[in-house]
Amino acid sequence: MNKTKYINSCNPAAVIFDLDGVITDTAEYHYQAWRRMAEEEELSFSRQDNEKLRGVSRRASLELILKGKELPENKKLELMERKNNYYREQIKTISDDDILPGAVDKLNQLKNAGVKLALASASKNARDIIENLGIEDYFEVVADGYSVEKTKPAPDLFLYAAEKLNLLPSCCIVVEDAEAGITAAVSAGMYTVGIGPSARVGRADLVYNSVAEIEIPEMLALLEKR
Ligand code: BG6
Ligand code: MG
Repeated sequence: MNKTKYINSCNPAAVIFDLDGVITDTAEYHYQAWRRMAEEEELSFSRQDNEKLRGVSRRASLELILKGKELPENKKLELMERKNNYYREQIKTISDDDILPGAVDKLNQLKNAGVKLALASASKNARDIIENLGIEDYFEVVADGYSVEKTKPAPDLFLYAAEKLNLLPSCCIVVEDAEAGITAAVSAGMYTVGIGPSARVGRADLVYNSVAEIEIPEMLALLEKR
């Protein structure tokens, strides 16, 4: 790869990674935790319903599960806390074994190419997870569920990361597995790499089935479109 070419074009560039479903498969743990809560509350919640929850905040997820059912605020808070406790129970044992194949290799390749790395996750558990995975030192900036009020699909989380990196949005490429995340990154004026089926992330500039399949030169060439 021609390293200087990419760096000169954006001086430097950044790749902002989503966490859940991109670097590690916590999407499944979120699903299990919500399902347990939903079963206890006799709410119907399928894997298909779960697809809509990908990338969206804890509160927005609960509202989607409730499907318009009205509950007092204190009950909603209790349900979110209960789900989070179930989720935290599952992530306690996360280790570097839970990093999705190819993710560390891509982080290393980007670092070696002089690209800045950031993490932008809607999750309030993101910091604990990257520490358990042992990858926190890769990221110059970590934007999480505490960083902004409006998370994905609003652009705020990605704009927050770009501002902390001191880079223009047009110098940032976002790697995302969620439709809400692609929408957020497009609204932020960033380039997008979708991980997963086109039905979900087809709006992205580039789509790969998995992180392992990302072609770094092809991805960084997006910046040449500026
Ligand atoms: C996102 C997940 O990363 O974080 C969502 O894709 C989740 O499924 C959201 O709802 C919020 O996570 P948390 O850990 O703050 O409940
Ligand atoms: Mg995700």
